[in-house]
Amino acid sequence: MNCLFSEIEQIILCKDPTDKVKATRNLAKGFIKKHIEYKRPPLEITLPGYPTRLALVAPRALKRRGIDTQEGRNVLMHAIAHIEFNAINLALDAAYRFIDQPFDYYVDWVKVADDEARHFQMIRRYLNLNGCDYGDYPAHNGLWDMAVKTQHDILARMALVPRVLEARGLDVTPGMIRRLDGAGDTEAVEILNIIYQDEIQHVDIGSKWFFHHCALRELEPRTAFISMIEKHMHGELRGPFNVEARLKAGFDKIEMQQLESKYS
Ligand SMILES: [Fe+2]
Repeated sequence: MNCLFSEIEQIILCKDPTDKVKATRNLAKGFIKKHIEYKRPPLEITLPGYPTRLALVAPRALKRRGIDTQEGRNVLMHAIAHIEFNAINLALDAAYRFIDQPFDYYVDWVKVADDEARHFQMIRRYLNLNGCDYGDYPAHNGLWDMAVKTQHDILARMALVPRVLEARGLDVTPGMIRRLDGAGDTEAVEILNIIYQDEIQHVDIGSKWFFHHCALRELEPRTAFISMIEKHMHGELRGPFNVEARLKAGFDKIEMQQLESKYS
């Protein structure tokens, strides 16, 4: 019987995108047969496996381009490919790092990793059809920071990765879809619509486990969420928020009012 944790560790560290995606999708398919046993503590992973030729740079070093040209759209879709690639690593790390959780916790995060792998495949196919590939453009190295910052606290992880980083995706994706639609790129629009719907579920899964751990620690979730943002992000939550999508993803109306008055 294969051990879930050693298998996930190898996938997180895997650099080759084709292999990483394949292994993630296989893991999800055979998950029910996995053996959950801890032989040693998880590694501290300061950097997961990225393709060797991908240049990781500071966010401000990235150039913004218009999306009226195919090259501009390739740059945008490459940035999204990088987000999805990181999302595979982040979902796997949620399952890998936190021991002694209910079995459903692992089922949920392996399923999310599988979705992210599928998203990455769709975008990579788009890039390939348009003459480029993942690794052709630089990408910023800030996305894993939150994983490192929250590696010792599952409550912080559930608050700040799904409910902040992924929820930010819900805020910005509809605008991106409109712009791509305006540029006549129906294929990109189709892909982003699928991703958008799936990400609502992912944030909702994050909310579910965030509430679970708030309950275990006897914390009021809305207050606990804000205190995580203050503690780990110096209160720098970015709006405006997509209230409609967030309400489907485990936020409630009172919480959205609180977040809007405090942060946007
Ligand atoms: Fe995704």
